[in-house]
Amino acid sequence: HAGVLISPSILNADLGDLKGTLARIATADTAHIDVMDGHFVPNLTLGAPVVQWIQRYTTIPLDVHLMIEDPDRWAPAYAELGAWSVTFHMEAATSPLSVARTLRSLGARAGVALKPATPVETVIDLLEYFDQVLVMTVEPGFGGQQYIEAGTTRKLERLRERASEQGLDDLVLQVDGGVTRHTAAIAVSAGADSLVAGSSVFRSADPAAAIAGLREVAES
Ligand code: DX5
Ligand code: ZN
Repeated sequence: HAGVLISPSILNADLGDLKGTLARIATADTAHIDVMDGHFVPNLTLGAPVVQWIQRYTTIPLDVHLMIEDPDRWAPAYAELGAWSVTFHMEAATSPLSVARTLRSLGARAGVALKPATPVETVIDLLEYFDQVLVMTVEPGFGGQQYIEAGTTRKLERLRERASEQGLDDLVLQVDGGVTRHTAAIAVSAGADSLVAGSSVFRSADPAAAIAGLREVAES
């Protein structure tokens, strides 16, 4: 795929006004939807019924990030409702490869996420099963945290290197957490080509300008 994808996270946007929130990020490539279950992470957000409304309210492809236990059971529903990509956590899955296969068979891109302390070795030999690897750059659960550079830069470099050795040119490497113009540049130079940004987009007075700013950094 061409260029770096900008995927604003609506986690800290006005969720009482989903239509308005989605309209404010109309220039984004994908919309990042954080699903949390209060077990895998100490926060609870929304699930499939709300994602289905989001899907009806926008034409932006949905990039669903599942921070939940038992994705083996719950992930397929998000592919069935039409999400563009569904990313589950390696730490939470019982049979990650079969989840990935199911997601693909339902027409979604299969994504796998790693928490900051999860070694890249858990996924490095399995890249052909996935369409996206999400390298978390904060501990999952909340927006507004600081980007963790230690470890994540090296993870991205190793993933990018292996993906190109294997000719997996379509594999998306995503970062999520603390992404600003400054940290976006660090992530992109390490090999990231999808940037999730919550607070830096929605705490800005002009979300469209914040998206354009990230795009500018990513493409320079
Ligand atoms: C955190 C979520 C992120 C979050 C990012 O667990 O997965 O998507 O919304 O928010 P910022 O950009 O504020 O770190
Ligand atoms: Zn996320």
